[in-house]
Amino acid sequence: MGTIQTIEDLRRLARRRLPRAVFDFIDGGAGLEHTLRRNQTVFEDVRLVPRVLAPGVTRDLTTRLLGADYGAPFGVSPMGLGNLAWPGTDEALVRACAAARIPYGLSMAGSSTVERVAELGGPFSWFQVYLTADQQVMLDCMQRAARAGVDTLVMTVDAAHPSRRLRNYRNGFGQSFLRHPWLMADYALHPNWSLRMLAGGAPVMANLVAETGDAAGGHPALRLMQSMTRAPLDWDALALVRAQWRGKLLVKGVLEPRDAVRIQAAGADGIIVSNHGGRQLESAVTSLEVLPSIRRSVGADYPLLLDSGVRSGGDVAKALVLGADFVLLGRPFLFASAALGPQAGADTVIALLRAELDDTMAQLGCACIGDLNADRLWTA
Ligand SMILES: Cc1cc2nc3c(=O)[nH]c(=O)nc-3n(C[C@H](O)[C@H](O)[C@H](O)COP(=O)(O)O)c2cc1C
Repeated sequence: MGTIQTIEDLRRLARRRLPRAVFDFIDGGAGLEHTLRRNQTVFEDVRLVPRVLAPGVTRDLTTRLLGADYGAPFGVSPMGLGNLAWPGTDEALVRACAAARIPYGLSMAGSSTVERVAELGGPFSWFQVYLTADQQVMLDCMQRAARAGVDTLVMTVDAAHPSRRLRNYRNGFGQSFLRHPWLMADYALHPNWSLRMLAGGAPVMANLVAETGDAAGGHPALRLMQSMTRAPLDWDALALVRAQWRGKLLVKGVLEPRDAVRIQAAGADGIIVSNHGGRQLESAVTSLEVLPSIRRSVGADYPLLLDSGVRSGGDVAKALVLGADFVLLGRPFLFASAALGPQAGADTVIALLRAELDDTMAQLGCACIGDLNADRLWTA
């Protein structure tokens, strides 16, 4: 792993290995991508303060969240069509997460079924739903997840409207998936990826294929997006999901303290502060910027997770110091799969994040995750 020292190294490698349209689908954000860029640079502005002469030579990365024990305070954000990076990405990710005892969030638009992921990941498999125009499709998916033994459901609430992803528009991605002439040329220039897709079959949204017969087979991305973005995603929808789901419920895509308080009051067990990785509102505030005010609003004990722009174990530490209990990452896991293959990719990202976080804690004089608190934050 000599040449792979950072997640950016994996991203660069993925960029070479993937057809441009596929890399851009994963890497890209909404509009002019202001938020996409700021999601990462905002972490540079946080400065940490080490405490010296602290006892202890080892660090404990284990973390408790929603009554469960995890091997580290980070996991994988739900991502649709992850197998575009490499066939088998979803399954490799959930296996690696279960081995590391960290959560894997399967998207309802993911390329593997919730039954298969639950079988591989056991208590480390979470399932994420979008409200669909036909609510029964979402409710059926939730029932399947519950029957498969999933106990943590993520409801995403920040994708009520289609987003303007200009790279996808330019590349023709999603409009005539795999058929557009420019896409064909792009695939021909990346024969390894294309042969893998031919052998493994282009990814489908496996959960929705099962729900909608062949409806999701032809143009999966397009049909799902159309259905989701026509659905009435409002407080009644949250109440419906809360009433129907007996397990733990996390609401993902929240950036406003009053929304957070209302979601808390509606009975959600926790909130994922997220701007969808800069993929929805072009100039959305970053998760890290709003985190402290959301923490103040919901109180010290309410579970808060954060995603969007986390690219290192140091970033994980910064999010915790600013008030998060747990952190999720999206793209880094797909870049790694495209760069190194699914299993090596997943293992590499997890090992890298663990090593970076452990180093940050050692430098800060932190023995356990609980030590990563406001005490280590520098303020002018
Ligand atoms: C390729 C891709 C697909 C995604 N699909 C979903 C999805 O199906 N459901 C969802 O809630 N979020 C989805 N997201 C957003 C992620 O869950 C997460 O919020 C975001 O990737 C975090 O930002 P990061 O990539 O900078 O870590 C997707 C993100 C990417 C990059």
